[in-house]
Amino acid sequence: MTSIAIDGPAGAGKSTIAQSVARTLEFIYVDTGALYRAVGLFALQNNIPHTDDAALIPRLSEIKVELDYQDGQQLIFLNGRDVTGDIRGPEMGLIASDVSAFPAVRDFLLGLQREMTTKYNVIMDGRDIGTVVLPGAQLKIFLTATPEDRAMRRYKEFIAKGSKITYDQVLGDIQRRDANDIGRATAPLKPAQDAVMLDTTGNEFEQSVAQVLKIIRERGLA
Ligand code: DC
Repeated sequence: MTSIAIDGPAGAGKSTIAQSVARTLEFIYVDTGALYRAVGLFALQNNIPHTDDAALIPRLSEIKVELDYQDGQQLIFLNGRDVTGDIRGPEMGLIASDVSAFPAVRDFLLGLQREMTTKYNVIMDGRDIGTVVLPGAQLKIFLTATPEDRAMRRYKEFIAKGSKITYDQVLGDIQRRDANDIGRATAPLKPAQDAVMLDTTGNEFEQSVAQVLKIIRERGLA
């Protein structure tokens, strides 16, 4: 089985790029951010403050998260209910970022992520895939772009979905999330030592996809 890790900050284009590459190569695309978002949604639905680890950790045993795939789309289930759409609200990113800082939450989701690589060729995106989840991945890519470029991308996505959010709000969220994800003690966002760095600032989507495919093919992985 082949595993490709794509890490990077929020809005760098990881998920859209990885999804497109996975489709081309007939790999399974695993969006690990969705797992943290599902735990965040559980906290929200159960009135558990998402910054309160003492309240959340004892409740993890009540959570069952499952992934399924339909036409190459990842679906995520929280205790049997499809929450693929519910985890995408603008507020869910920060909530996920908060719960993801708790080591017990990270441990709770680790097995599921690794299990995927025993069954499928995967392209897995996240923050710590190359450093912690799959240190033995055959290829690690670290995608970056400036905060402004990432915020503009996310802003356009939210507007297209009918959200009333402003660009400045999205930029503020991205900056807070970067600080959270980079600054946390456990599995912080950082490139693996052997990661290939790719800056997508100013790129058209197709350019980034072509660059990633080129790296994969140069490595002989497809
Ligand atoms: O990729 P995303 O924006 O859906 O991720 C939401 C949050 O989940 C992100 O801000 C940090 C956390 N996360 C993480 O800590 N580790 C991962 N592998 C993926 C996401």
